[in-house]
Amino acid sequence: MDIELANWSSVDFGNLSEVCAPGHAMIDLWLLNLSGEGQNISRLKKLLSETEIARARHYRFREHRHRFILRRAFQRIILAAYTGADPRQLAYAMDHPDKPMLADYPELQLSAANSGETGLLCVSHSLVGIDLEQVAEQPALNLVAQDNFTRSEQQRLAGLSGADWLAAFTRLWTQKEAILKLLGTGLSMSPLELTVAADEASATWTDIERGVDCWHLKTFRAADALIATLASTDKPCDIKYFRLGGPS
Ligand SMILES: CC(C)(COP(=O)(O)OP(=O)(O)OC[C@H]1O[C@@H](n2cnc3c(N)ncnc32)[C@H](O)[C@@H]1OP(=O)(O)O)[C@@H](O)C(=O)NCCC(=O)NCCS
Repeated sequence: MDIELANWSSVDFGNLSEVCAPGHAMIDLWLLNLSGEGQNISRLKKLLSETEIARARHYRFREHRHRFILRRAFQRIILAAYTGADPRQLAYAMDHPDKPMLADYPELQLSAANSGETGLLCVSHSLVGIDLEQVAEQPALNLVAQDNFTRSEQQRLAGLSGADWLAAFTRLWTQKEAILKLLGTGLSMSPLELTVAADEASATWTDIERGVDCWHLKTFRAADALIATLASTDKPCDIKYFRLGGPS
């Protein structure tokens, strides 16, 4: 893979307030270690809202439940450091159409993604969308590409094979999903309605006016086999990379 590996600066829970400075042009990325290693899950769970605790209960497997508790608790701790609020008092709401936001701090934009034991959170003042995917062989990925990638996107994959195909597939997937998250549509907008241009500098819709016509994509490796894309309406010239929760 020829894309840049992000250089994360480790931050301790104790000095979060020193780095969480809500500057106007900031785009801060947070890599979260969701392994649970060295973490007191029951204490962190107390930071969650009743809705979050109810959602955690729906995870059948303990490790998935714990990852959810960790990512939401870490998210609250980080967002509290930006806003000065108590992490337990932060209330989430939905921006149009379905994008998570902080009810009392609409000026702060956030986007989150998870893959296995790693979480990613983006905090910004411009509209952002983030996605994170593991580069891993899975059954029938070619069919997934057929169902979700437009003709021109598929043509770009057509000349590739093996590890190159898989890396290009994952890269494109994160780019499309980051844009869907920036727009806040999630799956209510088909990935087929959106084409990422070959130079990855722009994308076009088929027939839907989304009200956002200019943004930037930055694709990078979050770790060895983890590809991430940040989509933002502002040119991401001041991205900071922080890591919380121990080595990931
Ligand atoms: C939620 C969604 C946006 C991503 O789901 P996912 O890949 O399972 O999960 P991720 O780990 O990447 O992201 C989850 C986070 O996205 C955020 N999210 C949820 N819905 C969102 C929306 N409509 N807009 C923006 N962000 C959203 C939440 O913060 C969520 O975190 P949570 O689980 O703690 O609540 C999903 O609804 C979706 O639409 N996925 C698109 C899948 C797809 O077809 N991609 C095609 C790419 S070619």
